[in-house]
Amino acid sequence: MTVILGIETSCDETAAAVVVDGNQVLANVVSSQVDLHARYGGVVPEIAGRAHESLLTPVIAEAMVEAGINDEDIDVVSATHGPGLIGSLLIGVSAAKALALGWNVPFIGINHHEAHLYAALLEEPEIEFPLVVMLVSGGHTMLIEFQDHGQYRLLGATVDDAAGEAFDKVARYLGLGYPGGPAIDDLSKQGDPNAVKFTPPMRNEGLNFSFSGLKTAVVNHVRQNPGVETADIAASFQAAAVDVLTHKARRAAHEVGAKGICLAGGVAANSELREKTLDICVEDGIQGFLPSRAMCTDNAAMVAATAWWRMQNDGESPLDLGADPNLRLPFID
Ligand code: KG4
Ligand code: ZN
Repeated sequence: MTVILGIETSCDETAAAVVVDGNQVLANVVSSQVDLHARYGGVVPEIAGRAHESLLTPVIAEAMVEAGINDEDIDVVSATHGPGLIGSLLIGVSAAKALALGWNVPFIGINHHEAHLYAALLEEPEIEFPLVVMLVSGGHTMLIEFQDHGQYRLLGATVDDAAGEAFDKVARYLGLGYPGGPAIDDLSKQGDPNAVKFTPPMRNEGLNFSFSGLKTAVVNHVRQNPGVETADIAASFQAAAVDVLTHKARRAAHEVGAKGICLAGGVAANSELREKTLDICVEDGIQGFLPSRAMCTDNAAMVAATAWWRMQNDGESPLDLGADPNLRLPFID
């Protein structure tokens, strides 16, 4: 039995979790800084770094109390070491190394994207490979073929804005506040998704995405039709974004002969994306894996779960492993 403490501080969530053997979550504590950043309409790196500094120790303590464990029960300390905001990553990485050194246990640095891929496995241990994972967050939009543990192939990515960024920018333009994804998701339930037909660029080409043109189309439409219902615009934008995402995920799954499609990242919490993804999986006779909403957004249980797999394959990380804001997944060709 391996008890792993996970720490996540790559963006604006300060999180700590205790996970046993990569799949039993004893505690998963997330302290969101969203209220601190909301008035600025986005994450302010300086504020995020300072907030992690004051929140991390109590969040780790809370996770350990919730898990009912003491210092000596922890076998491994893991933390996200990239990609993300450098000032935020450094807080988690430094704390994890200090704890590992103090408790004389291994430290493992985790790639934040890999952690998002493992979030689904944490809840669905029976998953069969190959899988197509659609990682859709505020900073990234990628279609990844998950061939086996540690083996990932990049199938497509956004050429401009990330999907979550498009939700956030459209929401901001419509005056719906920050973060925009949940606001658009909620408002769309009262709107007509067929009110305006928005077609994102590159819908019918390859597996890459482009969202910046979709955002501009929304802005132009509202400028030209000032009386338009905001709920109809939100619903029509969401329908177009979800359509292109599911369309490409489906094409990717066909191309690689995937056994299933899995959603990951904050936008995977979107209710229409979840519903449409399941619909295409049922139609195509493949499995659809939708992590719970708590597991889609940034958390540390996914970090600790990934650390367990990394421990089996690569062993511990050196203590001079640094925080890397531009860390990439080691994709195979
Ligand atoms: O993965 P995440 O928590 O943080 C990173 O970006 O790494 O993703 C945050 C993004 C934000 O852009 C937010 O607006 C979006 O996920 N999001 C959603 C929903 N919930 C969060 N987008 C659409 N619908 C949602 N329900
Ligand atoms: Zn994330």
